Amino acid sequence: GKGGYDHYMLKEIREQPTALRQCLRGRIDELDGTVALEDIADLDHSGPVQFVACGTSYHAALFGAERLRAAGVSAQAFLASEYTRERVPVDSDTLVVGVTQSGETADTLRALRAADGAGATTLAVTNTVASSAARECDHALYIRAGPEIGVAATKTFASQQLALALLAFELGGEATRAELEAIRDVPGHVQTVLETTTATEIAEAYVDADAYFFVGRGYHYPVALEGALKMKEITYKHAEGFAAGELKHGPLALVSENTPVFAVVTGDDEAARKTIGNVKEVEARDAPVVAITDGVSDVARYADHVLEIPAVDDLGASVLANVQLQLVAYRVANQLGRSIDKPRHLAKSVTVE
Ligand code: M6R
Repeated sequence: GKGGYDHYMLKEIREQPTALRQCLRGRIDELDGTVALEDIADLDHSGPVQFVACGTSYHAALFGAERLRAAGVSAQAFLASEYTRERVPVDSDTLVVGVTQSGETADTLRALRAADGAGATTLAVTNTVASSAARECDHALYIRAGPEIGVAATKTFASQQLALALLAFELGGEATRAELEAIRDVPGHVQTVLETTTATEIAEAYVDADAYFFVGRGYHYPVALEGALKMKEITYKHAEGFAAGELKHGPLALVSENTPVFAVVTGDDEAARKTIGNVKEVEARDAPVVAITDGVSDVARYADHVLEIPAVDDLGASVLANVQLQLVAYRVANQLGRSIDKPRHLAKSVTVE
């Protein structure tokens, strides 16, 4: 059941610390400074990596590709429905990773089969043991999030993020102790976010907005896309995510005082400073700004509201920022009285192409 919650979605958002601990269990040896993924112990790969996925899982794939590139691995993410063997450079050196919660998404299965047909090694990153993807791929890595009932993917996205972060150690360079500790600490920080969030206030302030925009850079770019997807699918309102640097190339024409812009800005590096520059451009056009931030930079000075997260590295911060955006979408949808667990026109598992 819903365990006392009004919706499975809220239950599953709140389950994230537990889900993430399950995902990490037995996979990190901090003393040795190593990651051990038993599921894929016999995967030995050193070539390029391609991700194929749909929807929320595609956003996780974008995150995974970014993380792999940071580890020195050539990696790209493709929408499974756009992936065809004829047009992508795939051969026996390539590892093709299907990211799929259900393991039954038709577009993703088709892309994996095409990759297999071209001689690539295939890996399913999935929540579902013995799913079609797990059975058909050469390898399977389980994200161990537990069953997800709400149509909107929440805990499975966070678990995909951490599983892919672990995969990067397996395929890329060795982990440092600091990196491993940072990953180990993510579940606890998610708990802090759940206990301290002011998402309800933000939702009340902007429930009548015309549209919602989300921006971020680096690891926060897929989070901006995911924030918008969550918002549109459960509130039925217009929401879009952009790479922060793209605003001035078109989307800026959309912003007004009725379109809040959610900006994910953490740390105080060049990426953060550039996104703050984008925030100033938005503010100058009178759009309300909600900063999702750790308070390390001075982005709050340019924001109307702040959703605070603990100060951690940018990889972990993207998990935490996403939890805040899940909660905002949930609270807006709840105030609008939407059918949160079963949004109109959508299915949990999309088994047609
Ligand atoms: O089961 P999958 O991860 O392959 O599903 C792919 C998408 O249909 C899915 O992520 C969808 O976008 C989410 N349920 C939206 O919240």
